[in-house]
Amino acid sequence: MSNPSILILPGDGIGPEVMAEVKKVISWFGSKRDQQFDVSEDLVGGAAYDAHGTPLHDDTMAKAQEVDAVLLGAVGGPKYDTLDFSVKPERGLLRLRKEMDLFSNLRPAQCFDALADFSSLKKDVVAGLDIMIVRELTSGIYFGEPRGIIEEGNERVGINTQRYTESEIDRVARSAFELAMRRGKKLCSMEKANVMESGILWREVVTEVGQDYPEVELSHMYADAGAMQLCRWPKQFDVIVTDNLFGDLLSDAAAMLTGSLGMLPSASLGAPMENGRPKALYEPVHGSAPDIAGQGKANPIACILSFAMALRYSFDLGAEADRLEQAVEKVLADGVRTADLLGEEGVTPVTTSEMGDAIVAALDASL
Ligand code: IPM
Ligand code: MG
Repeated sequence: MSNPSILILPGDGIGPEVMAEVKKVISWFGSKRDQQFDVSEDLVGGAAYDAHGTPLHDDTMAKAQEVDAVLLGAVGGPKYDTLDFSVKPERGLLRLRKEMDLFSNLRPAQCFDALADFSSLKKDVVAGLDIMIVRELTSGIYFGEPRGIIEEGNERVGINTQRYTESEIDRVARSAFELAMRRGKKLCSMEKANVMESGILWREVVTEVGQDYPEVELSHMYADAGAMQLCRWPKQFDVIVTDNLFGDLLSDAAAMLTGSLGMLPSASLGAPMENGRPKALYEPVHGSAPDIAGQGKANPIACILSFAMALRYSFDLGAEADRLEQAVEKVLADGVRTADLLGEEGVTPVTTSEMGDAIVAALDASL
């Protein structure tokens, strides 16, 4: 059988730096675990715009459709702020999500013991936190029509449309129930059924799907109350399922509970391909952080943990994913810190590359 294939899209800002550390980890699995991957690399976001005048070249889009998994760094930067909306770096990412039909976006928020003090919340509120947000990623207000800025009378009107079909809700709900079955068997669905028809339909369809998963304890919350509960007592949640826009907001809030955005991975999954693997893209939740790009300050952990998710969800290598996650945990427990994780007295930060090396060393120690 041929090796699983990975397309690496480092992107902009700190993307290439953190991805360089993932490449070390990928090579480690090749040399020490005899688990080779066929890795190719291409441009996305501002980097693709600079080279081709588009944030995602058609050839890159075609490659992404063929590989077993895409690993993406980050897109965007101030240099591109004035570009036309249609060629902004973010459009490259949104096109990948849409054309690969990656409807289920898994965003875990896990608090590593060694970092519980970094949260802006009290330690006992976040210590041991392990929740999973499932965000619908290919529909809703991000893609709904009509959209645009139009003239009406003597002023302009900005328009976006929240739109969900039953089948779109059904499939993301199913993926969330499946995950809940493999975790704590609790699912909380969040919408605004009190003010939005799309929220009423969302609640109805999720409830219907729930009949196929009687073991999962299903609850519903208005998304604003959900945001409040996430800050008050996040450990009440196991899996949360929500729409594209609420998921964007709630996942940033959940991420910060854990202390640093630099720690959080994500997986965006679509329907199974012919080989049974889901269409998949893995990326850190953090952005391109242009303010620290090129300085060796970025934390590569979110990107490395995104590769761990690829091992688990694309390549059926759950035990190897555990190994990688434990290596990260060990490095953190040993007190190794990138600049975003400072706060303790007398700790000198390591560089992006030193953090990657420490994780590879911890992998070696795991053998
Ligand atoms: C995210 C980001 C993206 C989004 C941007 C970069 C388009 O905020 O992945 O959460 O809004 O989905
Ligand atoms: Mg976001």
